[in-house]
Amino acid sequence: MKKILVTGGSGYIGAHTIVDLIENGFEVISADNNSRSTPDMLAGVEKITGTKIKNYKVDLCNYDETHAIFEENSDISGIIHFAAYKAVGESVEKPVLYFQNNLGSLINILRCIEEFHIPHFVFSSSCTVYGNPDSIPVTEETPRKNAESPYGLTKQMGEQMIESFAVAHPTSKSVLLRYFNPAGAHPSAIIGELPIDRPQNLTPVITQTAIGKIPSLTVFGDDYPTRDGSCLRDLIHVCDLAHAHTLALQFLIDGKNSSNCEVFNLGSGNGITVLEAIAAFEKSTGIKLNYSIGNRRPGDVIAIYANNDKARKELKWEPRNSLEDIMTSAWKWEQFIANQPKHLELRSHKLN
Ligand code: UD1
Repeated sequence: MKKILVTGGSGYIGAHTIVDLIENGFEVISADNNSRSTPDMLAGVEKITGTKIKNYKVDLCNYDETHAIFEENSDISGIIHFAAYKAVGESVEKPVLYFQNNLGSLINILRCIEEFHIPHFVFSSSCTVYGNPDSIPVTEETPRKNAESPYGLTKQMGEQMIESFAVAHPTSKSVLLRYFNPAGAHPSAIIGELPIDRPQNLTPVITQTAIGKIPSLTVFGDDYPTRDGSCLRDLIHVCDLAHAHTLALQFLIDGKNSSNCEVFNLGSGNGITVLEAIAAFEKSTGIKLNYSIGNRRPGDVIAIYANNDKARKELKWEPRNSLEDIMTSAWKWEQFIANQPKHLELRSHKLN
């Protein structure tokens, strides 16, 4: 059984990925200091899988603490590195925090890959690396344009650091996974997205509006050059995204990669506007959302969605969940957390 270190294992995509890895026969250890997550998420993973997960509560920006994980686990055969900050707006206000946290932790992970000769590495990247693309859908060949935020810059720089690393270390193979807009929750509603403070991302804003925590949703702009004037995105179910990580690891283990550092787009391949996403939620749940049109949000990309042919062909990945599955599972999860005092407490947590 291959042992995989998942950093950010208590996070939204991390927790769903651990479930998928375990269901596919991998052994998993996690590293998460819960600076922006709750250990309850791993407890949820344990409940779903019936497997105890060892978590190292370390700050990955601390080299000695990170190094100690590898000393204790000489049999780690792969790493999936999720741990990072991801609030676009916060990154604009605190760029140094983002450089320090997102790149500092990645450097320490790369140092350990080097020292302990870890053969397989999967990096959590984002479609944000494309900036505002000249044409859509984007393929992996679409150039990385200027990042729209320091958060986006950390993903671009992270990718470039791994590409350089791959040149110097031919025995360590990497995959960069560019996520589009992850949404939805595990069908059990035992794990899901748990934003701290007020959510920024569209799907949790939709579900919190539906449940009444947010009085009214603001659509950020309806005068964009899209089919209905609102921005266009590519929502991908978090369980489909999670499974792609398992496939990416297997792809490296089986030696199917043609370069030392492969890149894959992970999106559904369908563009959906913000107004269409609202309508899809209403249709899937029968709940009317209170919303109004507001100003454009600074830094928003106008329109982006994925060409996912490469992941389909080479990883044999196929998104299985529909837009309706995304909306109904996100809603089921929102209703579940509404009754969890501990989760609500976390939501009032202050960002550091
Ligand atoms: C952004 C990043 C993405 C990152 C993600 C993590 C960019 C271009 N994209 O995604 O890489 O992985 O954050 O958090 O940096 N919207 C509303 N009202 C709301 C909330 C959102 O209209 O209350 C709209 C936004 O204007 C946007 C769309 O919904 O057009 C999606 O927004 P969001 O869910 O925040 O994701 P991105 O900005 O696409």
